[in-house]
Amino acid sequence: MYKCAIILAAGEGKRMKSNIPKVMHKVCGKEMINHVIDVMKNADIEMVDVVIGKGAAEVKKGTESKNISYSVQKEQLGTGHAVMCAKEFLGNNKGTVAIFVGDGPLITEATVSALLNYHEKGNFKATILTSKMDNPAKYGRIIRSDNGDVKKIVEFKDCNESEVLVKEINSGMYCFDIEELLNSLDKLNNNNAQKEYYLTDVIGILENQGAKVGAFNAPIEEITAVNSKIELADAEAIMRRRINRKHMENGVTLMDPNNTYIDSEVIIGKDTVIYPGNVLQGKTIIKEECVLYPNNRIEDSILEKGIVIQSSVVIESQIGEKTTVGPYAYIRPESSIGKHARIGDFVEIKKSTIGDNTKVSHLTYIGDAQVGSGCNFGCGTVVVNYDGISKYKTIIGNNVFIGCNTNLVAPVTVNDNAYTAAGSTITNEVPKNDLAIARARQKNIKNWVVRSGHSK
Ligand code: UD1
Ligand code: CA
Repeated sequence: MYKCAIILAAGEGKRMKSNIPKVMHKVCGKEMINHVIDVMKNADIEMVDVVIGKGAAEVKKGTESKNISYSVQKEQLGTGHAVMCAKEFLGNNKGTVAIFVGDGPLITEATVSALLNYHEKGNFKATILTSKMDNPAKYGRIIRSDNGDVKKIVEFKDCNESEVLVKEINSGMYCFDIEELLNSLDKLNNNNAQKEYYLTDVIGILENQGAKVGAFNAPIEEITAVNSKIELADAEAIMRRRINRKHMENGVTLMDPNNTYIDSEVIIGKDTVIYPGNVLQGKTIIKEECVLYPNNRIEDSILEKGIVIQSSVVIESQIGEKTTVGPYAYIRPESSIGKHARIGDFVEIKKSTIGDNTKVSHLTYIGDAQVGSGCNFGCGTVVVNYDGISKYKTIIGNNVFIGCNTNLVAPVTVNDNAYTAAGSTITNEVPKNDLAIARARQKNIKNWVVRSGHSK
């Protein structure tokens, strides 16, 4: 049977008090709208249309990788009107349309699949995803007839005294038979408290025609919509807990899941141990058996097996097996560190390649450099890659020893097995096997302290 989905995302989201369109706010590193789109696609709904309006250009740009279509709702005249704007997308197809909201990021693939299944098996013309709430607040109420059948949905603002007491609410998420939906949309009016065309009125229209309407219960957690920054933080906490549980189920050890922040697309191998205060972002991949001691931020990076890292920042970079990083290392974009290497305390690496077994243990800056394997960098080495106008490359061979406090003034090359003496400022190529010394010779001035009157 043909299946498609419409995601409503044209509203402004005034209560977010933000310059960013509501559905573009992120939950665990991913925009709310993209969470919903991904859930639809994972539930095997190929054709997805997003109704855009407020902030349309931004929403379009933020979802462009998703292979979806868009309908534009110029004026926000209500949820029913929003669906009318997607008429062309529905076309003459016969089958089911799932309608969801772009600000409900917590819905799961399992619930969408179960709803679709319930709708199709039950031959319903419409099925509402509902929930029971002790405090149903501003949600639309599900009104049932005496025999228990769904009769209609009444919006909070339109409820009478008895309707407002109903605890079964409308999630704003549904399945519809496409033809029945299109026929009913033509019959909507805006004679209500908000002067809007309500999608919810379609339910009453169908019921009046004798069509079968179903209700499928979902956990409150999944249908909660985000309307404010407070609700955004609530959603973040729920999503974070889900993500952390998934990783623990996969064999990752989280010392303190309440203080571990993992974006939704991060992949982590089993037997990796993660201490509190780690922030793992974007498309980061952490392989098996790594130890992430407290307080790292790792974004869009790949950490191979058995890495130990603490209190460090790694961005758009790659780190090889069994390398140790930190504390307080800063690995900036486009860097690649080899296996069994060490990037120690207060070391910054920028756009550089560091070979296997190379040790850069303390207080060092390496930028725009290509470093071979088996090298040792003394404390306080600086790659001088910038002359105020341009950046230049430094090339260092294999098994090179860089003495403490060396400046390597780029462009410069130090060849295999060469040494630089501590305190040298290297400006010329150092040939293979040579020692380069580039500093003033020491001179001791006999008895200077006494003669100059500095003695105490
Ligand atoms: C809606 C439901 C309500 C349900 C609640 C669940 C209606 C009339 N009411 O109310 O029964 O309990 O959701 O959260 O449907 N949107 C548009 N264009 C518009 C209006 C809204 O695209 O003209 C989009 C919004 O961007 C949002 C979604 O539709 O993603 C829901 O709109 P919102 O105004 O938040 O609906 P509620 O008043 O919360
Ligand atoms: Ca609203």
